[in-house]
Amino acid sequence: MNDNNVLICGGSGLVGTKLAGLLRREGYKVMILSRRKNADQAEFYYWDPARDFINPDAILNANIIINVAGAGIADRKWSARRKAEIQNSRVQSTDLIYKKLQELKVRPDLFISASAVGFYGDRGDEVLEEHSSAGQGFLAETALKWERAAMRIHDLGVRTVVFRIGVVLAREGGALSKLAQPVRLYVGAPLGEGTQYVSWIHIDDLCRMFLMAIRNKRLSGIFNAVSPEPVTNGGLTTAIAEELERPLILPAVPEFALRLAMGEMAHVVLDSTRVSSERIQTAGFEFRYAKLPAALSDLLAG
Ligand SMILES: NC(=O)c1ccc[n+]([C@@H]2O[C@H](COP(=O)([O-])OP(=O)(O)OC[C@H]3O[C@@H](n4cnc5c(N)ncnc54)[C@H](OP(=O)(O)O)[C@@H]3O)[C@@H](O)[C@H]2O)c1
Repeated sequence: MNDNNVLICGGSGLVGTKLAGLLRREGYKVMILSRRKNADQAEFYYWDPARDFINPDAILNANIIINVAGAGIADRKWSARRKAEIQNSRVQSTDLIYKKLQELKVRPDLFISASAVGFYGDRGDEVLEEHSSAGQGFLAETALKWERAAMRIHDLGVRTVVFRIGVVLAREGGALSKLAQPVRLYVGAPLGEGTQYVSWIHIDDLCRMFLMAIRNKRLSGIFNAVSPEPVTNGGLTTAIAEELERPLILPAVPEFALRLAMGEMAHVVLDSTRVSSERIQTAGFEFRYAKLPAALSDLLAG
């Protein structure tokens, strides 16, 4: 086996698809691990973390394993069942990779795990660094368990990098299309007070960060994956409106209305997380999209 075989667990989604494209262009052989039934076609392996199943060949044929699997946090209202799915899809999937590495007695050169800035919870304007404490609430608890599971792979002697990812801005989906759609239709408005911080990252920068983690063999541990300039929710909505040349004519959507409509899931849009990118920059990462207007003009154009 050459040392360029990458397995992306949960690689069929927004981040995984873009990352797979970048890595293939850079000469890596990329395999996707998926729960899809047609997954035994070339370049796909099948797993089902909920049933504790993983095709062992996926693990045996990879020297770099990246886990970006996880049920969408804003796809559906948070019932108890949905919350269990959100958490289990992250923690059990990581545990399953750990167990298989143990069982098959193999050690990849590198394991990269996604985590999320939800780790920090709702923190006002506090600047959050990797050593900052975990926050309160379901998202923070989930991220904490997820990272602990990833660090067990580190304890096997595998170089491990965890990215605490901010809101990923992309053309293909995710938060930006949900935010831009009402603005396009002249019904865009800040959410809640609009003063809560949003730590965002352009998807290309995120994928380049994963590539850096592969290439820079000294990189290890937890890194915030956010741009250097978090903005407020109001600032983000305004910047989208400016890029789309639409006025914002409606008042902010009141917090109580969001809580009523979204239930506990309102945390996704109301929590304030102002996250620092200093550590990854000190490690040598250079952002292509450090500023929001440049990112939006790239992603919302035409
Ligand atoms: N996008 C963001 O703004 C953002 C922000 C912070 C953190 N993150 C984290 O980054 C990772 C990738 O994000 P993404 O936007 O690419 O997510 P995504 O588009 O929703 O893709 C995630 C993939 O996870 C797999 N998956 C879904 N439910 C699952 C379950 N119950 N069990 C196992 N696998 C499941 C799916 O693959 P199959 O259906 O093929 O199995 C899916 O393609 C996620 O872990 C997410 O939490 C994303």
